[in-house]
Amino acid sequence: MTEKKKGRKILVYNLLFLVVGGAIVAFLLNAPKETTHRMPRDDNHLRFYQMDKKAAEKFCGECHNPTGQAGALPKDHPSKFRCLLCHKKIS
Ligand code: HEC
Ligand code: HEC
Repeated sequence: MTEKKKGRKILVYNLLFLVVGGAIVAFLLNAPKETTHRMPRDDNHLRFYQMDKKAAEKFCGECHNPTGQAGALPKDHPSKFRCLLCHKKIS
């Protein structure tokens, strides 16, 4: 390989690095705001506000199920483990 070709290869790698790095930064800066609904602070949920998250989550399914008071979760609902990691308490 000639010196000139080598130099061009290094330039290409550097440009690639800049483009990919820039794309990643742009992606992260663009991340949407947190939109997941928080756990309501109402009579149904108030007791969970004093509880440890893991302990509280054992009860969510009592109402949040197809035949429960709150009904089924949306069809396209993501992973159902650890409700409170996504549905935060209203602070
Ligand atoms: C006693 C029954 C009951 C239990 C237990 C319960 N929920 Fe609910 N939840 C409801 C009902 C009824 C609604 C719909 C009416 C409302 O918004 O309060 C609801 C609504 C919600 C919503 C939607 C709020 C919105 O803005 O649309 C979230 C999120 C939620 N609950 C999370 C939880 C989590 C997390 C737990 C467990 C820690 C839990 N719930 C336990 C009855 C319950
Ligand atoms: C991986 C994150 C995640 C976990 C874990 C999770 N959810 Fe959700 N949940 C979402 C998203 C995202 C939506 C749809 C956006 C929204 O409405 O908040 C949603 C929607 C809901 C809704 C409907 C809210 C509405 O107003 O339409 C309820 C009720 C709900 N989740 C309850 C629960 C319960 C109960 C658990 C635990 C069994 C749970 N979620 C676990 C992310 C999560």
